[in-house]
Amino acid sequence: MELDLASVQSVRDFCKRFLEEQAQLHVLINNAGTVQAKRRETADGFEMTFAVHYLGPFLLTSLLLDRILEGAPARIINVSSRIHRLATNGIDFDDLQLEKGYSGRTAYAQSKLALELFTRELAARLADKEVTVNSIHPGAVISNLRTDAGPLMQFLFFVLRPTLLTPEQSAEAVCLLATDPSLSSVTGKYFSKSEQSNPSRQAQDMTAAKRLWAATEELLASLPT
Ligand SMILES: NC(=O)c1ccc[n+]([C@@H]2O[C@H](COP(=O)([O-])OP(=O)(O)OC[C@H]3O[C@@H](n4cnc5c(N)ncnc54)[C@H](OP(=O)(O)O)[C@@H]3O)[C@@H](O)[C@H]2O)c1
Repeated sequence: MELDLASVQSVRDFCKRFLEEQAQLHVLINNAGTVQAKRRETADGFEMTFAVHYLGPFLLTSLLLDRILEGAPARIINVSSRIHRLATNGIDFDDLQLEKGYSGRTAYAQSKLALELFTRELAARLADKEVTVNSIHPGAVISNLRTDAGPLMQFLFFVLRPTLLTPEQSAEAVCLLATDPSLSSVTGKYFSKSEQSNPSRQAQDMTAAKRLWAATEELLASLPT
């Protein structure tokens, strides 16, 4: 089924069709990723990395949540990155769309931090349900992610390639998070590959998590329905 996480309309259309066609949803893995060396905006006017890593998955998860809850026990997994740690000043609420001083690294780090905060806040909201929400850094993986990353990053990853995980090795940790019976009640946590770990201090800031949730609802509400 077609889904463009950079388009609010596409997410809405996908969810409408999914809910019409699928009676159950037990595992949702928000995995889409992008690296944008130059600042780009989506048709809705959002910064591309923020839209694909965070806003789209926020809307997708929200629109599918009732179906997920109906099918509980269920799991939501957000594929994050250890790069979220580079957002050391936390979320810049005055410049969520990075209109000032854009860099691909800042956009990647801030959007993954947003996904981390979403993970903690959603897990807290679902604490009394049988639906877990966790995030995972899948490791440094050979993939197509760096196609738009600019020549320096591409060169770096070419040199590092022999040390990177294969997609299969990386997917194993994500699948484990989705299926391992011993993790059935683990929620709100961060995994570095298959090991439970601590996300950055900024990713555990529940005041920021609540503020981001409210700001996100406001952003989405500002769009035509
Ligand atoms: N590779 C690494 O070293 C690494 C490290 C840490 C975290 N991660 C994270 O791992 C996840 C997977 O990345 P990857 O390394 O496998 O990269 P990838 O090979 O580039 O795959 C990215 C995936 O995201 C999808 N995608 C991109 N934009 C989308 C959009 N607007 N709507 C829907 N889907 C979209 C792509 O779909 P199409 O192919 O159809 O465009 C593709 O399936 C990402 O969240 C990434 O941030 C990767």
